[in-house]
Order: sequence, then C-alpha cells, then structure tokens
Amino acid sequence: MLSLYVHLPWCVKKCPYCDFNSHVYHSPDLNKPALPEADYIQALKLDLTESLALYPDLSHREIQSVFFGGGTPSLFSGQAIGEILTHLSKHFHFSPHCEITLEANPGTVERKHFRAYRKAGVNRLSLGIQSFNAEHLKKLGRIHDSLEAKQAISIAREAGFDNLNLDIMYGLINQSLSEALEDLSVACGHQPEHLSWYNLSLEPNTLFYKQRPPLPEDNVMHLIENQGDALLKTHGYTRYEISAYARPNHQAKHNLNYWQFGDYLGLGAGAHSKITTPTHKKIHRLIKHKHPKTYLDCLDCAHAQISFVQENKIVCDQDKPMEFMMNALRLVEGVDLSLFEQCTGLPLSRIEKILLKAKHLDLLDSSEKIKPTKKGLLFLNDLVNLFSEDI
Ligand SMILES: C[S@@+](CC[C@H](N)C(=O)[O-])C[C@H]1O[C@@H](n2cnc3c(N)ncnc32)[C@H](O)[C@@H]1O
Ligand code: SF4
Repeated sequence: MLSLYVHLPWCVKKCPYCDFNSHVYHSPDLNKPALPEADYIQALKLDLTESLALYPDLSHREIQSVFFGGGTPSLFSGQAIGEILTHLSKHFHFSPHCEITLEANPGTVERKHFRAYRKAGVNRLSLGIQSFNAEHLKKLGRIHDSLEAKQAISIAREAGFDNLNLDIMYGLINQSLSEALEDLSVACGHQPEHLSWYNLSLEPNTLFYKQRPPLPEDNVMHLIENQGDALLKTHGYTRYEISAYARPNHQAKHNLNYWQFGDYLGLGAGAHSKITTPTHKKIHRLIKHKHPKTYLDCLDCAHAQISFVQENKIVCDQDKPMEFMMNALRLVEGVDLSLFEQCTGLPLSRIEKILLKAKHLDLLDSSEKIKPTKKGLLFLNDLVNLFSEDI
C-alpha cells in the first residue's frame, strides 16, 4: 500500500502563525496574475516520472489515499485537480475505497470549484476554519470571516461532500475557556465527519514567534483541553490521535498511514516522501526542492536532468525506533507490537528494555500493544525521547 501527497504551495496571504511551506504568489506578469497552474502540473508530472524511475516498485503498490495539501490547494481550479488525478491514475492502481482529500481555505471557496473537485474524484474536504469568532479570526490574520467559515461548510455539503474535516485551533490570543468551547460547539453543530483540534503553537520563522502574542494561562489551557475533549465526546467524536477526532468509520486514512509508519510518495515543492524498499527494508526519506520557484525551475532544466529531489537519505537503524515512535505514539489506541518489526525490519528485542522502562514510568500501557497511557499522551515528547537513547 502507498499514500500520495501533492503539495500546492501558494496562499492569498501568509498567516502570522504558519510555518508550512506556503508562499504568496507574485506574478512576474501583472497582466496575468493567476497561479502558474499549467507549469506546476507539468512539473508535478515530471517529478512523478523521476520518482518512479528512482523507485519503479512504487507503481505496483495500491494507492489507499491521496492528499492535496498546502498552501491553499483550493486556489487551484477543479480542472487542474482533475488533470493531476487523471495523471496519477495512469501510473497507479487506486484502491476502490481510496480517500482523496483536498485542503480548502474558507476565504477561497467557490461553488463551481467545489463541484468540480467532487466531480474530479475528490471525496473528502478539509476546511481550515480555525475559529468561528470574528475577533479571533482577525487576530489570526485569516482572510475569511465567521460567515464565510459557515458558508464554506454549506457549499461543501451542497457540492456533494459527505466526508468533511474541520480544522479548529485553540489556545488563541487571550482566548477564554467559553470562547474555545463555543468554537467547538458551533463546529459540532455542522456535524463534520472529522475534526482536527490543534493547539496554536508558536513556530520559529513565523511572525507570532518574533512578536509573541499573549496566550491563555496554563490553568485556562488545562480547562480548555479537558472540557473541549469532553464536549467532543458528547457530540459523538472519538479522539484517536493527539489532535484528531472522528465519527465512527471516519478516521483519516491518509493521516493514519503517517502515524502507522506507512509509506508515502510526496510530489510538489518541499514535499516529503518515505519509501521502504521491499527487499532490504531500507527506509528512504526524500525532500523535493522547497521553494516553488526553485521547484518550477527544474522544469526548464528537465532536459539537463536536474533533479526535483533536494535530499535523499537512508534512515539508519539507530534512528528507526525513535522515528517509528514519534508517529505511532500519537495514536490513542497505539499500534500492535508486530508493526514495529514489520515497518522497521528490526527485532522487537532491540527496544524491549525501553518498553519496560516506559511502562515502569507509567508512560506506556501494560497491554500487549505499544500504547501510550493518559500520562504518556500528556508527556509525549519525554516518552518518544526515551527511544533516542543509545540502543
Ligand atoms: C496547511 S493548513 C490548512 C489549509 C489552508 N492553508 C488553511 O489554512 O485554511 C493546515 C492546518 O494546520 C493548522 N495549523 C497551521 N499552523 C498552525 C500552528 N502554528 N499551530 C497549530 N495549528 C496550526 C491549521 O489548523 C491549518 O488549518
Ligand atoms: S492559509 Fe494555511 S497554509 Fe496558507 S499561510 Fe495560512 S495557515 Fe499557512
């Protein structure tokens, strides 16, 4: 099995908290301010050709999910998304239940685009709502207001999307407990199938990191986290990952694949890939050229065989346990013990001592799984770091 990630790197405006590989598009031709869709699609196609030449086995693996992430993929037309999907389906076999997600910013929603995405095969939309509160949206520098957030949800439903994720953030600037809970109540009122509830983090290289805004005190955060979790549970959402909640049978297949340490091929500017070679179980990590301009420049150089790949590293055995745990331990129900050997090619005996230590510290559950306890989820970094010890 394999997942595909397609990065579409442009946004209308850079949000002050965002550290994603997203860029405001500055057209070299003022008469033609639209995104360079055609060139980018051409580059994605050549990027895929190069990846398949490097790893020919990939084309035999069934695709279980495709994710168009950004940036703001909803800036691309339905026709463009359709062309990318058609091209991918010529090179891969898609599972009949393949989940195909596209991220959309409520400030860039157009009815006809949403219908066209659905028609092109996208069957899941992820809306970057963040908050329904007008003041908070302003402070976050979002391009949409509360009404547009709600309209985006109705437009998505009208366009035929029966699998919706809403991204909501909490711990916003001076946010009170009642404001955070109100955002969740409004979100639940729209009955999305999935809800991602992120704690706003101050990431290096962002404006918020340089000019640190006043965030809620620890005791308020504690109340938000506990009461928010309970509220979501009451509305029928089960927490299955640190920040992910889903209705039954609606866990995100694409994200689950990351957390279960599955393989994925990333296409587009700055896209990451993780590819395990079938015979030697070597884990390769690739990163494509990050800046959209550098990435697009590879198009002109394609005849000179300049690579889209900026970095290609093999994960050494020493690093595998930590990399595996960084993902698997985010899952509330953890993973089967056998997954460790299956994914890393290492014997379980290699981490047995650390598993025991983590159980002793009440960070891991004592069951026959690799499963964090409540305390383990709360101190996830400490738990994961145990696996970086010399083993
Ligand atoms: C690539 S963005 C989603 C699509 C679109 N670009 C948008 O913002 O509407 C992915 C999500 O990550 C979350 N996110 C981004 N920066 C964050 C931060 N600093 N802390 C917490 N969550 C963040 C937001 O909820 C955002 O919707
Ligand atoms: S719209 Fe999304 S990807 Fe773009 S800058 Fe804002 S948070 Fe980042």
